[in-house]
Amino acid sequence: MAKVLSGAGLRGQVAGKTALSTVGKSGSGLTYRGYDVKDLAEKCEFEEVAFLILKGHLPNQTELNDYKAKLKGLRGLPQALKDVLERIPADAHPMDVLRTGCSMLGNLEMETEFEQQQSVTDRMLACFPSIICYWYRFSHDNVRINVETDDDSIGGHFLHMLRGEVPNELHVKVMHVSLILYAEHEFNASTFTARVCASTLSDMHSCITGAIGSLRGPLHGGANEAAMEMIEGFTSADHAEEEMMGKLARKEKIMGFGHAIYSESDPRNEIIKQWSEKLAADVGDTVLYPVSVRCEEVMWREKKLFCNADFFHASAYNFMQIPTKLFTPIFVMSRLTGWAAHVMEQRADNRIIRPSAEYIGEDLRPVPAIEERG
Ligand code: COA
Repeated sequence: MAKVLSGAGLRGQVAGKTALSTVGKSGSGLTYRGYDVKDLAEKCEFEEVAFLILKGHLPNQTELNDYKAKLKGLRGLPQALKDVLERIPADAHPMDVLRTGCSMLGNLEMETEFEQQQSVTDRMLACFPSIICYWYRFSHDNVRINVETDDDSIGGHFLHMLRGEVPNELHVKVMHVSLILYAEHEFNASTFTARVCASTLSDMHSCITGAIGSLRGPLHGGANEAAMEMIEGFTSADHAEEEMMGKLARKEKIMGFGHAIYSESDPRNEIIKQWSEKLAADVGDTVLYPVSVRCEEVMWREKKLFCNADFFHASAYNFMQIPTKLFTPIFVMSRLTGWAAHVMEQRADNRIIRPSAEYIGEDLRPVPAIEERG
């Protein structure tokens, strides 16, 4: 008989094998294919890390140049996809837009054989920023933007399309760091969704579409948006403290804090926090960054809860004038690499994922005639 797990949410259960990342086991706490995320965020561009996660090794200079050139050439959107995006209303959530965009792309450029898994992933990596920005600018500014910019990086391409101008070096650097930090995280909810879908031998676009749906929730990727909505309501650090104490007294969940695996700190927080501080200095902020720091202090002092990757991402993105509702789609632009690599890993050693449930319903009983039912 199968063993019934005691903990809710499958916490602590090993549900499969991966060579892609470790969480809470070595280095600063997060490693991708044996490299510490801290080291990667300091020394690499996002495209190098995407290559590492997807192809298995860090690219040399020629490989990196070729990969960036290839991705640059894949930024365009088919007209049928643009037509669909133009029909989605401005008040839609961009995560829903991306979910639809990914699914539509799968209709137009179907993965018919698993040998195409690398090329369909590269295509998504290159054109997800185009999908988000094409819809955003059309629905909000009534313009049909050119999505085939000449920017060197995925983050730069995104910011350029969003604002209509080439971003500065600091912002491009922060995008590299942010995308690196979000790229991969073992068996989190959205990745597990992708692997379950892959285990049925489904296609890559279906796996990624499902993962986008899982990431959307505020307990997962949506936390960065929820954190922003909270901190922008605080007018000073003292005000933040007062409000946070009230929330804690009411036992409200504070988004951007806590983690299912890390117990004392999230290694990604220290890194993005430093960049948020740099951006705050760059824009001359005197409110949002101090407010964020006070929230962090209060949560640690009162509950021993620490900021996860999402909390300081909120202020960092805000300082770069990124609209709040685009925060989680940026997470997708990055995590796509981890999801796709997990799909490939699942396919390489597959058995359909099909756990059992402990039945807690009625005992066996006969179906009563319809006139005998209450
Ligand atoms: N705010 C307030 N209390 C929190 C909290 C938060 N952000 N995170 C955890 N807690 C509390 C829980 O309510 C629980 O209290 P209880 O024992 O009195 O019920 C206790 O801390 C332990 O929670 P834990 O078991 O560590 O949480 P989890 O593993 O079930 O969930 C998260 C992990 C990430 C889902 C959870 O911390 C959370 O909801 N955080 C906010 C959402 C978020 O930022 N998500 C992004 C994750 S990267």
